[in-house]
Amino acid sequence: MDTTETTPALPPIGEIYEEYARLRAEHPVSRNEDGLWRAARYEDVRYILRAPGDFSSRVSQRAEEDPEAPPSMLFSDPPGHDRLRALVSRAFTPRRIAEQQVQIEARCEELMRDLIGSERADLVGSLAAPLPVGVIATMLGVEDGDFAEFKRWSDAIFSNIGEILLGTPSEEAVAANEEMSAYFQTRIDELRRVPRSHLLSDLVHVETEEGRLTDAELLMFCRLLLIAGNETTTSLIVGATRVFHEIPELFAQLQREPDRIAAFVEETLRFHSPFKATLRRVTRDLELGGQKIAAGELVLPLIASANRDERIFTRPDEFDPDRDPNPHLAFGLGIHVCLGAPLARMEGRIAVAALLRHLDGIRLVEPDSPELDGFGAPLSVPVHLDRRG
Ligand code: HEM
Repeated sequence: MDTTETTPALPPIGEIYEEYARLRAEHPVSRNEDGLWRAARYEDVRYILRAPGDFSSRVSQRAEEDPEAPPSMLFSDPPGHDRLRALVSRAFTPRRIAEQQVQIEARCEELMRDLIGSERADLVGSLAAPLPVGVIATMLGVEDGDFAEFKRWSDAIFSNIGEILLGTPSEEAVAANEEMSAYFQTRIDELRRVPRSHLLSDLVHVETEEGRLTDAELLMFCRLLLIAGNETTTSLIVGATRVFHEIPELFAQLQREPDRIAAFVEETLRFHSPFKATLRRVTRDLELGGQKIAAGELVLPLIASANRDERIFTRPDEFDPDRDPNPHLAFGLGIHVCLGAPLARMEGRIAVAALLRHLDGIRLVEPDSPELDGFGAPLSVPVHLDRRG
């Protein structure tokens, strides 16, 4: 994603829930050391996400200026965003997502067979990363023979996620992006001639009163799916494993009562929010939480902090697998609310069910690793597996 060099990177977020709690109590809206505003309370985060007129998603100036790279949906405002979202939603339908269940289960089963081969494994390399990449590859019609290359592009983009979002991407990530764009351009040309039954084909052919998606918009969307859908889903699966490490008895409970898996996944999304914070640019001088914020300044709505807000959640620092209601903001809110939320939930549920089916427990080898609560997902998470006897 092309971004401005003047846009500061999201600050690294480690184990900072204590800091979030302090901010919520004492400085609900404050500046961080880089001069970015942060909103820590649930009500303020919700307010920001639902007021796109005052809080713009156009956080990148360079992308705005580059005609070759239209701003992605995630970084655009109405009316451009409305048009893209309406077109994409025509293809990214609940039916299309529900259809993925069989392939996700099959893919998960295959990955699990490798994972459980030994007592120690890398959860990310074996399951949490390849699962979402494979799911998106299938939805975009990537042929089996091209899968290894798709994975390589995706890894290059993954490994550089912070810079791609808000800084200057590495040469490797730029090259991967160019190769991937060339690949998808060829696929798009083919699909225009011969439609197929997958998401990318639907996107190529979707037509509404909003018009059609241009080639540049289609390529941008393929890239957005990799960026928005992979790291986050990997992080969800890692988060679930972290919970099993911390509350081992929950593993056997869910084995006995798999009906509780859906609520468990929701609570994991709240407790270990994969998308810790998003970013907005203020469009006019305004006041938030008693602070005056000037037009043009950047604000971080701290989603992970909102999800631990004691004003909304009872005992927020306790993992309650049956929490109900659970109005967490892990998927955002308002016009940019996560398009892939139903898919991510399904992947999370299927991955957790597979762990419960194949194992008797799972533990982190390095539970204190600070990466686990960082922005994006860790590159590897060594785990110890209690294999079924
Ligand atoms: C646990 C996994 C996921 C989490 C926590 C997550 C979280 C989010 C959040 C917080 C936003 C809103 C960002 C903002 O308002 O600035 C978002 C947007 C988005 N997500 Fe997800 N996401 C996940 C998985 C996925 C998946 C699997 C896909 C697709 C395959 C996806 C596609 C998108 C897209 C396209 C947007 C942009 C929507 C728009 O701008 O209108 N996400 N996601």
